[in-house]
Amino acid sequence: MTTAKPIPELLFECMQQDDLQQVMAIENESFPDPWHISFFRRSLHPRKKHMHLYVARLNNEVIGYVVFYINCGEAHIMNIAVTSEYRRRGVAKYLLASALDIVQQHEANEIFLEVAVKNTAARQLYKHFDFEVYGIRKRYYPNGGDAYVLRKEVQQ
Ligand SMILES: CC(C)(COP(=O)(O)OP(=O)(O)OC[C@H]1O[C@@H](n2cnc3c(N)ncnc32)[C@H](O)[C@@H]1OP(=O)(O)O)[C@@H](O)C(=O)NCCC(=O)NCCS
Repeated sequence: MTTAKPIPELLFECMQQDDLQQVMAIENESFPDPWHISFFRRSLHPRKKHMHLYVARLNNEVIGYVVFYINCGEAHIMNIAVTSEYRRRGVAKYLLASALDIVQQHEANEIFLEVAVKNTAARQLYKHFDFEVYGIRKRYYPNGGDAYVLRKEVQQ
């Protein structure tokens, strides 16, 4: 699954508490109902072993991140975003491919996520990774928007 780095200096690294200011700037510009910083803080707690939070780091700047969990053989992508300045350069593809590698290493055999029906960019991204529509959640988002549940089988 590994994708070549879209930018040679780009790093895929575990998110740290110190990254949260930059992560929140991206979160706030990316979503109409952004997560609160406390959700990231709690998820980074060492006790939350099923939580995986990674950043794409370029020259010490966080330019994107992905958050997922792996539990009982099943993974769930909870959040992925790239700063607007670096979109359409393959950063999300790199984050997602790297996340899928970790899911595979943990021997999970399926991965789920929700995506807004209206989010064409994200839907195209997931199509690239062969996610398939598994269901629909009506009025899933606070703005009343519907979400598709997407699923992908992970080959071991
Ligand atoms: C969705 C998002 C993460 C994509 O990040 P990105 O780094 O720009 O994506 P990539 O450059 O890796 O693009 C991967 C593929 O996604 C699709 N894609 C990305 N942006 C797109 C857009 N604006 N319109 C149509 N397709 C798009 C394309 O198929 C693209 O492949 P291609 O460039 O070879 O055609 C980014 O737009 C974002 O942060 N959006 C706001 C947050 C969000 O919606 N997250 C998803 C929550 S489910």
